[in-house]
This record gives sequence, C-alpha cells and structure tokens, in this order.
Amino acid sequence: MTEFSTRAVHAGQEPDAGTGAVIPPIHVTSTYAQDGIGNMRAGYEYSRGGNPTRDGLQTLLADLDGGVAAYSFASGLAAEDALLRAYLEPGARVVMGNDVYGGTHRLVNRVHVPWGVQLVVVDMSDVDAVRGALEGCSREDGAVGGDPRRTRSWKIADIAGLAELGHAGGALLVVDNTFASPYLQQPLSLGADAVVYSTTKYLGGHSDVVGGAVVLADEALAEAVAFLQFGAGAISSPFDAFLTTRGIKTLAVRMERHSANAQAVAESLVGAPGVERVFYPGLADHPGHEVAAKQMRSFGGMLSLSLSGGAAAAKRFAESTEVFTLAESLGGVESLIGYPSEMTHASVRGTELEVPDDIVRLSVGIEDAGDLVADLRQALTR
Ligand SMILES: Cc1ncc(COP(=O)(O)O)c(C=O)c1O
Repeated sequence: MTEFSTRAVHAGQEPDAGTGAVIPPIHVTSTYAQDGIGNMRAGYEYSRGGNPTRDGLQTLLADLDGGVAAYSFASGLAAEDALLRAYLEPGARVVMGNDVYGGTHRLVNRVHVPWGVQLVVVDMSDVDAVRGALEGCSREDGAVGGDPRRTRSWKIADIAGLAELGHAGGALLVVDNTFASPYLQQPLSLGADAVVYSTTKYLGGHSDVVGGAVVLADEALAEAVAFLQFGAGAISSPFDAFLTTRGIKTLAVRMERHSANAQAVAESLVGAPGVERVFYPGLADHPGHEVAAKQMRSFGGMLSLSLSGGAAAAKRFAESTEVFTLAESLGGVESLIGYPSEMTHASVRGTELEVPDDIVRLSVGIEDAGDLVADLRQALTR
C-alpha cells in the first residue's frame, strides 16, 4: 500500500479477525474482561487508555501524514491543548500566526498564558517577523504554530522555510493542517514536528462529528501526548472515531472535488458586481500562489471575498444564499457561508487577529459547481 487513496481506505482497517466483517465493529465498551488479574486478552484494560476503534483511526491518521504516532481527541481544541501542554512549560514562548483559528488564539491566550506561557503573534508569511519573534528561544522553550491557510486573506506560510527557521531558533514547528487535510499537504514531510487537526472538518467530511487529532514526527513527544490523552482523558468516543474513519475513506475524492469547485467559484467571483477582492491561493495573482503550488497538491475548498459595499453588503450577501448554508464550521460535503467577524472569529475582535467586517468566508462543498456559482450570483444581485 503506497498511494494515499489506497492507504486512506485500508490503513488500520483490517477485516475483523473473529467474524470476517469487512468493516471492523465499533467497540462501544468502556472496559475489557481480564483472564486473571492484570492478564488482558488483547492488551486493552479500560477505554480511556485504549480502544480498538480509536486505535484504528489513530493508525490511519499516523499513516496518512507519515508520523510515528497519532492521537485522536474529543475536539480539535482538545488536541491542540494536549500537544501544547505536552511540550510547553511555564515560561515557554508560543509564536502564533496572526490569523489562526480564533479558538486557537483563545486557548493559548486565556488558558496557557495565565499558566505562565508567553504568546507572541506574528504574520507567518513574514520571515523577518518570525525570526524576530524567535529571538532568545532555546529548544526547551519554543513552539511555532500556524495554519498556513488564513481566514483574513489566505496568506500562505512556507512550511519548509518555517521549519528551518524554527529549528535554527530552537523551536518546534506545529502546523494546523485542518484546511488542507493530509491529502493536499503533508507538513511532516516538509520538516514540521507536529500536525494538528480539527477532524470535525475535511477528515470527518460530513458535518456530523466533532473531533481532533495530533500527528507527531518524534517518539518522545508522541509519548508525552499519549500520556496526556490518557491522563487528562479528552479522548474521542468509539462512535466518533468510527464516523471519522468512515469519512477519511473518501477524503481523496472529496478534496479533489472541493478544490475543483472552489477554483470555479473563485474564478467566477473575480470581477463580479459588488465583489472587491477574492482571496484564493489557486488564483495566479494570489501572493501565496507559488508557495501553495509548491507545497500543496491543489488549493483546497476554502476562500474569502471582500464586498465593495462593506459590512452591510457582506452581511446581506451571507444571508442571501440558497445552496450555501449560513453556518459556522467548514469542510463538509455541503457548501457553507460565514461572516467571520461575528461568527468563527468573534472571539478575536479587538485583537490583532480581528477579521475585517467586509469579509465573507466560503467553505465550498462537493455539489454541482454550476449551481454554486449561480447561487452566489443571485445572492450578489440582492
Ligand atoms: C483551522 C481550525 N483549527 C482548529 C479548530 C478547532 O477545532 P474544533 O472545533 O474541532 O475544536 C477549528 C474549528 O473551527 C479550525 O477551523
């Protein structure tokens, strides 16, 4: 099994040994019978510590990103929290991209900073700013995190360049690869130390499960995250792990369609009446186009646009679509439209992560591209 699409269907998903069931059963048990005290039949003792359905998903996730191990959690933020607490100690510094998911900023700013961590926010596509933010870091106290796809303007960060810079500055590079998914982009192969996901999005793919994951390149860090998964207990449930595994089987085909549809939508919006700018890295004039083309298989399903009528027009547009559903989140088969400054990024209003109020965000689904373009056109005329 060498190619991604094959591994996405089979890794960690052997038919059930006992019955031959092609789809391994969902192990909805909290505990496991012991044949004598401490004599476990298959190594499983209690489901917070280990569960075959969760293990199947974790094997699959580690395989797809080329990591030494992966751990799945109850949400993307639980995964980020476990990774950061596994690595950081009070006094450590987190250098964060200035347009990460608002909840990631809130997690570090309101949970880890009060615990003694320093937070420095920079533009991850500005090499000098990142170098400056790393000054004085040592291997013990650095971490760089960034989602290379950003809601505000979709600046693209060069992962290989950041890894080099981070490692030279004594930092660990963590990439939130949620928007790209492992099908479009493989941060560990570009030098990142860890990848985090909200599996709620493209990996689950159907807007029916909340979850998160961490994939690691290093055994020691993997052990520390494994301990926190068990010790703090923010595990994914067997049913959530099953739904995520089922979603991943079609990840490759879905991502191809998301990218193709988003490209068609982006091109249709350029120059459309009422549209000021379209931010999509698949457009040749996007400032991050070349870096994205170098490190991604295609450009993904997320894009933003600004409206020339400002906030009022942006809100009216977001409330006027019929195929695109007005909702938080992204990455499902259905197209969603959002108004970040009052929805996904409301928690960062008034900070340097604030999203301008003329911006509308689209999560382009796998519906018919012509229907999507027509829907946006009719909403623009309103
Ligand atoms: C890029 C990104 N990372 C992390 C998260 C957090 O994930 P979750 O909502 O599963 O906790 C989100 C949620 O929207 C996200 O968009």
